[in-house]
Amino acid sequence: MATLADAGLTFTSLPHPAPTGADQRAAILANPGFGTNFSDHMVVIEWTDGQGWHDAVIGPRQPIALDPAASVLHYAQEIFEGLKAYKQADGSIALFRPEANAARFNRSAERLAMPELPEALFVESIERLVQADRDWIPEAEGASLYLRPFMIATEAFLGVRPAKQYKFIVIASPAGNYFKSGAPAVSIWVSDYTRAAPGGTGAAKCGGNYAASLVPQGEAIARGHDQVVFLDAAEHKWIEELGGMNLYFVFDDGTLLTPELTGTILPGITRDSLLTLAREEGLTVTEGRYSIDQWREDAQSGRLVETFACGTAAVVTPVGKVSGRDGEFNIGSGGPGQLTQKLKSRLVAIQRGQEADTHGWIRKIG
Ligand code: PLP
Ligand code: COI
Repeated sequence: MATLADAGLTFTSLPHPAPTGADQRAAILANPGFGTNFSDHMVVIEWTDGQGWHDAVIGPRQPIALDPAASVLHYAQEIFEGLKAYKQADGSIALFRPEANAARFNRSAERLAMPELPEALFVESIERLVQADRDWIPEAEGASLYLRPFMIATEAFLGVRPAKQYKFIVIASPAGNYFKSGAPAVSIWVSDYTRAAPGGTGAAKCGGNYAASLVPQGEAIARGHDQVVFLDAAEHKWIEELGGMNLYFVFDDGTLLTPELTGTILPGITRDSLLTLAREEGLTVTEGRYSIDQWREDAQSGRLVETFACGTAAVVTPVGKVSGRDGEFNIGSGGPGQLTQKLKSRLVAIQRGQEADTHGWIRKIG
């Protein structure tokens, strides 16, 4: 990766004049939830057409001023990422595969006609924020500091074309379990809505995809489920992914299957890491198509023994029950299966520095 200096950038550092008190922070870290509490600082970097990236600042987390005509408010030119900083077994701090998030961020930027950010700048922004807010990392098992880098179009212009001004921002939020229920397995609803069509933005991590998922996700919740699962747009037959997670299926012969990356699902970094870990375990993993009817049939016959969802926020979460217009079926014993547990343990052990990082996935923060 090129250095920051190569990009002609230096960071201005403005420490928070009145950061959160230690007692209040400790109370938050003891029960962080997901996405509702935030650390003291943020990174902001500006981009202007003709000038490129400039004015990189790490300063107090605060509201941002936007012109009411800012393009993001009208045409949704917005992309984001999600990754976590973990307290390691030895007390140090580490990020998990931030370079992969940087690369995906740029692929999303390209799809949304936004400027790419040098990968080194993406990673350094995150490192600086984690350093500034290092006291905000919860230490409990399963807890971490969730980092949310994002980019918005800020130019005041109502014509429909790529904006000429953007802000890249990183905020941080201490995080515990993504699912409130704390149940051993989640229950999912097969949506009639579709998330992404061929040629659309399904593979990009853009806000618009999530806006469109809120009604189907709301429907899932209203019917008593935790998450929605989307089928493909063309045939409404092939399983794609959940609202914010990829899926893996485990069969009774010990093989695994995960939906292939056809451009309509998000190429998850957790999905990719598990693919590597499972193959290292000697398991056969196929990236392919799997239909909703086959899923039901295999769950009922016992050929399918486990299903799990995976993602940064959800880590590895077993799926226990699936419901849709065509009825309901249960998977395995309704709790976490053996392979789900094993792969989760290995992933988490690497993230927490309890298992050797033989893949260069861990980036320590000094
Ligand atoms: N699919 C969607 C729609 C997501 O929002 C996410 C979360 O980022 C994932 C999959 C999993 O991706 P990752 O493992 O990179 O977090
Ligand atoms: C993540 O896992 O980072 C996501 O962005 C998913 C989102 C639903 C919180």
